[in-house]
Formats: sequence, C-alpha cells, structure tokens
Amino acid sequence: MARRDRRAEALDRLDAKDIELIGKARRASAQAYAPYSKLKVGAAVRTSTGRIFLGCNVENASYSLTSCAERNAIFAAVAEEGPSMQLEDVAIFANAERVSPCGACRQVLAEFGANARVLFPEARDIQIMTMEQLLPTRFKLAPGPSAERQS
Ligand code: THU
Repeated sequence: MARRDRRAEALDRLDAKDIELIGKARRASAQAYAPYSKLKVGAAVRTSTGRIFLGCNVENASYSLTSCAERNAIFAAVAEEGPSMQLEDVAIFANAERVSPCGACRQVLAEFGANARVLFPEARDIQIMTMEQLLPTRFKLAPGPSAERQS
C-alpha cells in the first residue's frame, strides 16, 4: 500500500478530537528549539477538564539540560490546572517517521495519567497505546506526610 494511503487509513481510525490533538502537537513541533539533534518534537495533552496544553523540545548546548516536548506540555498543564491535573489523551508529533515517548517522559506521563491514551507516529501510521502498555511497572512512591509550615 502506498505511504499516503497508509497515512490516510491511519487517520480514519481516529476521531475528530484525536485529529485536533495531533494537529496541535504538529504545530507545537514547529516551535521546537532543536539546533543540535534537528529532531523537532511537539506534544499536545488533553486533560480531564478538556483543556489542551502544548510543549516542544528545548535543547541546550549542555546536552543533558535538554527538556522533552512531552514533559514541557505536562508541566504547562500543571502550572495552569494545579496538582490534581489528570491526563486523558496525549499526542506526539515529530519531523521523523517514528517517535515514541522516551523512558523519562513515560514515567512523568504515568504520574498524571495511568490510563491516558498516547498517540504517536510510527512508520507513517499512528500508534495508539495506553500508559499502562507503555510503562507497565512504573516506579511508585506513597505521598509523604503533610509538611509542617516552616517559620
Ligand atoms: N525528545 C523529545 O522531545 N521527546 C521524546 O520523547 C524523545 C526525545 C527530544 C529531546 C531532544 O531534543 C531530541 O528529541 C533528540 O533526543
């Protein structure tokens, strides 16, 4: 099957909300600061309130300071909706045939959406996986005791 046909078939499996989210991830990817890898990644997250937040990767000359698109989108969502923010759907887009969330981003995604759906490009198709499938045995920690106010 021709590449364009496969892409069209993949888009048929998605509903209008998914296509909207992928479109927003695509637009966010255009904002990426990726002079080193040239991989421009965008992420769009839909939270339980229905709002959508965007992120793109931001690289640094000191490579390890680079921040991934997915985490930047999640942090933007928490900044607006607070610590109870819950992820429903996540779309990732990049100027590459394949990109799935890195291990570090999976751990952060799972923190805010154990049942979230994640849509990402794979060989001209769109792969849809749950966070449980992407990271079945994530690290968990019980919340700590409430902090005493420091004077
Ligand atoms: N990157 C992301 O933004 N998300 C991922 O899940 C994988 C990697 C970025 C980080 C870096 O700027 C570039 O892609 C190459 O690793």
